[in-house]
Amino acid sequence: MMLKNNSKIPLDKFIDKALYDKSKGYYTNKNPFGHQGDFITSPNVSVMFSEIVSIWLVAFWEKLGMPKKINIVELGAGNGEMMYQILKTVDNFKKFRSSSKFYISEKSSYLKKIQKKKIGKYNVKWIDNLNKISKCPSIFIANEFFDSLPIKQFIKTKNIWSERFICLKNNKLQFIDLKTKSSKIEKIINNKLPNKLNFIEHSPLAFKILKIISQIILKQNGGLLIIDYGYNSKKMFNTLQSVKKHKKNNFFENVYQSDITHMVNFNYYKKKIKDMKLDLLKLTTQREFLIKMGILERAEIISNKLSFSQKSDIYFRLKRLIDKKEMGSLFKVFFATKKENNFKLGF
Ligand SMILES: C[S@@+](CC[C@H](N)C(=O)[O-])C[C@H]1O[C@@H](n2cnc3c(N)ncnc32)[C@H](O)[C@@H]1O
Repeated sequence: MMLKNNSKIPLDKFIDKALYDKSKGYYTNKNPFGHQGDFITSPNVSVMFSEIVSIWLVAFWEKLGMPKKINIVELGAGNGEMMYQILKTVDNFKKFRSSSKFYISEKSSYLKKIQKKKIGKYNVKWIDNLNKISKCPSIFIANEFFDSLPIKQFIKTKNIWSERFICLKNNKLQFIDLKTKSSKIEKIINNKLPNKLNFIEHSPLAFKILKIISQIILKQNGGLLIIDYGYNSKKMFNTLQSVKKHKKNNFFENVYQSDITHMVNFNYYKKKIKDMKLDLLKLTTQREFLIKMGILERAEIISNKLSFSQKSDIYFRLKRLIDKKEMGSLFKVFFATKKENNFKLGF
């Protein structure tokens, strides 16, 4: 275990070690995607998902005035499936294809290897620093990226704020809330503490990354498309969870062998990104976005000449992506750009 008896560590540091420790971390050693793995993401449910994202990218590029150079940057590419399908799809849009430079920002060197095996033959660049991309308009895409970043939790009880830590006591991991100063939290969240909130979930890394992205968009133009497991409310909830083999896992069991995620609070993201001066912000459900972008028509076209069993396979995959009881409403699509771009397709 990462802790010595009677020692403690802030929640975000614990998550970072559990997921990304250089030798034992979950994402350092494992390909967690698919039926054999621990969870499945939309690009791995159906290629139609990435095809729709590709069409959206081409349409946004057109709205930006078809710049001769554009960066397409994927954050956290997992097993590389979405980028692979995007590269294949945009082959049908020659002008867009030849104007685009594709980048992946990926933290796990294990997953980077899997990605390179899959799409190494294409012209994709892997980067560690987002500021290294070419100086031209840039579209950032992130599917289930932000929910995998480490978070801090702050709790107010009887007007006193605490920060959540993990400690090891008698060889058992447990949560412990330690008193902290409001001014310390305000420095971390870069805002005054709202009176009405008694609970805050905040990822310092997410907002560090969002700051870099919004500065690039403000300077060079472009936008950010986030697709993630999340909710839209002023109130914040404790959404921390551990997942193993497609089921919820006790947070302190199977550390290093289970995924740790949280739900993105899009209301909070909207506020913070507005503070970063991006002023066209759109939010909808994965269902609405995919349907507005034509996924039903796409399914119709590709299933046209297929057998009944192939058709039903497409149907079940589509249902998984858009059904309100499945990924359709729990997953949200969020878009941030400059007002002057006036682009709302899919929202
Ligand atoms: C839940 S997976 C999603 C993968 C993929 N986007 C998909 O939908 O299948 C999260 C991905 O983000 C990567 N990741 C996490 N933190 C990162 C960071 N700080 N920088 C770059 N990649 C990161 C993980 O290694 C993993 O590839």
